[in-house]
Amino acid sequence: MIKAIRGTKDILPDESRRWQKIEDESRGILNTFGYNEIRTPLIEETGLFVKTVGEDTDIVKKEMFSFVDRGQRDISLRPEGTAAIVRAYLENNLYKAQTFQKFFYIGPMFRAERPQAGRLRQFHQIGIEAIGSNHPALDAEVINILIKLLEAAGLKNYQLKLNNLGCREDRKLLSKILKEAFSKRPTVRLLCDDCKRRLKANPLRMLDCKNENCKRVVKGHFKTAEYLCKDCKEHFDEVIRFLNLLKIPYLADPYIVRGLDYYTRTVFEVTAQNLGAQNAIGAGGRYDNLISDMGGPKLGACGFALGLDRMMLALTANENSMSEKNGLALFIATIGKTAYDKAFSLLNELRNDKISCDIDYENKSLKSQMRAADKMEARLVLIIGDDEIKRQEAVLRDMKTKEQTNVKFTGIVDMVKAKLE
Ligand code: HAM
Repeated sequence: MIKAIRGTKDILPDESRRWQKIEDESRGILNTFGYNEIRTPLIEETGLFVKTVGEDTDIVKKEMFSFVDRGQRDISLRPEGTAAIVRAYLENNLYKAQTFQKFFYIGPMFRAERPQAGRLRQFHQIGIEAIGSNHPALDAEVINILIKLLEAAGLKNYQLKLNNLGCREDRKLLSKILKEAFSKRPTVRLLCDDCKRRLKANPLRMLDCKNENCKRVVKGHFKTAEYLCKDCKEHFDEVIRFLNLLKIPYLADPYIVRGLDYYTRTVFEVTAQNLGAQNAIGAGGRYDNLISDMGGPKLGACGFALGLDRMMLALTANENSMSEKNGLALFIATIGKTAYDKAFSLLNELRNDKISCDIDYENKSLKSQMRAADKMEARLVLIIGDDEIKRQEAVLRDMKTKEQTNVKFTGIVDMVKAKLE
């Protein structure tokens, strides 16, 4: 039997109801904050990600699903959303009508990482991008939204970690400091193989290496405040002031870098306590050079992406995670062909009135139909047999109270509506 590809996952109806609920609630919150949905293609030119996410990042070096199409174009499945949204913002001249714009997106992303719990090759993000402002209040608002989405979903044990990477010049300076510190042997010997490579190509990533040895060695050579310029320091202080105004607790962590090269100044991540190694549930930051690097005007921007698959795992691990029910209002059980025909047209009338209802499609006995209704957690069951056809009425059973009433066919829709209120 053909199986789903490793690192991909079916979201079955039982689970998808929970996804829908979280997505709906998130849309509501994002609307309140003035974010508008944007939908970009799942495939983009590979060069878009090489240029923006960064040539030396793990994502571009080893994790993209890339292929050459029939027209000899280099194409990749999107590994993240930010680059494509900035592309769409510039390509469609959205900034000409109004510079500052807020976008959100919900959808699948693709990274060829080694699959493990919480790490998939097709995963799903809810993300936001606020483009066109350098204001530190925006950073705090973006973080606030991430927290709001997590709380609305019911997540409890999480931690927000915050850092400031500085501007491009600051990043260069820090890279230089790290390179100089480790260029002298024997210090370099102490680094893991990945960090030895990072030292040459992307020294900043050494700061968030998970290897215990690297953590110890790198920490000894790096003091946060040493390299940030005055403007970046001020920006960070302001972000913190705004976070305090919103009463959002955070932990300043000078070792947060994140694996995307476009970040400048603020970077943050939210980790969930019950997720094991893959515990970053959402992450984001500022990218003040990205729009101009992509040929647009010089504009600041900030955003995040929340990993839905990881959030679902964290919620399932929480005892109080919610399980969403089908929500069927009414099941119609029938005996005989005439009753089935009557039920079939009644079903249509009820559905036209937005009442969720269903019927048997397998010629089941009445007893089995009642069992099916129970399984579907129907609140009401309408029973129609030959006698009912003769009397032009049906029996309406309340599945909770077990109370039964006879209802004329002509009054069924009104009666069902009244019972459901
Ligand atoms: P990211 O940190 O690469 O950022 O990913 C954001 C979140 O996506 C992670 O915290 C995690 O929950 C989820 N995620 C990433 N990779 C996987 C995977 N293989 N399996 C399951 N979940 C995963 C970005 O993607 C940036 N575009 C965020 C951003 C928006 N920054 C600014 N604007």
